[in-house]
Amino acid sequence: MAIRTILRYPDKRLRVKAEPVTVVTDEVRALCEDMAETMYAAPGVGLAAPQIGVSLKLFVIDVASGTDDPSELHYFINPEITHREGETVWEEGCLSFPGIHEEIERAEKVTVRATGLDGQVFELKAEGLLAIAVQHEYDHLDGTLMVDRVSLLKRRMIDRDMKKRALQDARP
Ligand code: NI
Repeated sequence: MAIRTILRYPDKRLRVKAEPVTVVTDEVRALCEDMAETMYAAPGVGLAAPQIGVSLKLFVIDVASGTDDPSELHYFINPEITHREGETVWEEGCLSFPGIHEEIERAEKVTVRATGLDGQVFELKAEGLLAIAVQHEYDHLDGTLMVDRVSLLKRRMIDRDMKKRALQDARP
């Protein structure tokens, strides 16, 4: 297992639409494990493959990450959100936008169908933080980022902040 580099906004690779995984091979399983390790090391509650520059439809979530609660790790390969219900607003963060937290409107509950590491299709009904994380990571597979879901004013502020930071990081 290995910790991968997490891409930060405005990296263009975060905007690429991910491709479906055709077969869950050992290589895909190893990638999933790297993603979990990278998420825990960050730490974060979710990570999508495009965030490490891999354009595949898969993400990992553990809403207990960074807490003392028992692990609730889920792997979602080729996920589809099949049902959305209710509305809620949650303050979200993203590993590709370190230090930035914004309130975002989401469905309160979702049903997601995906393939697991064992190659079997499963369905999960999610609410609370898990429902938020599923919707957030699902957006990444489409190249949609948290800046796209906030007001234009906030979007400009985040854009300016992140670009300034990218310049500072690039300095020797
Ligand atoms: Ni994110």
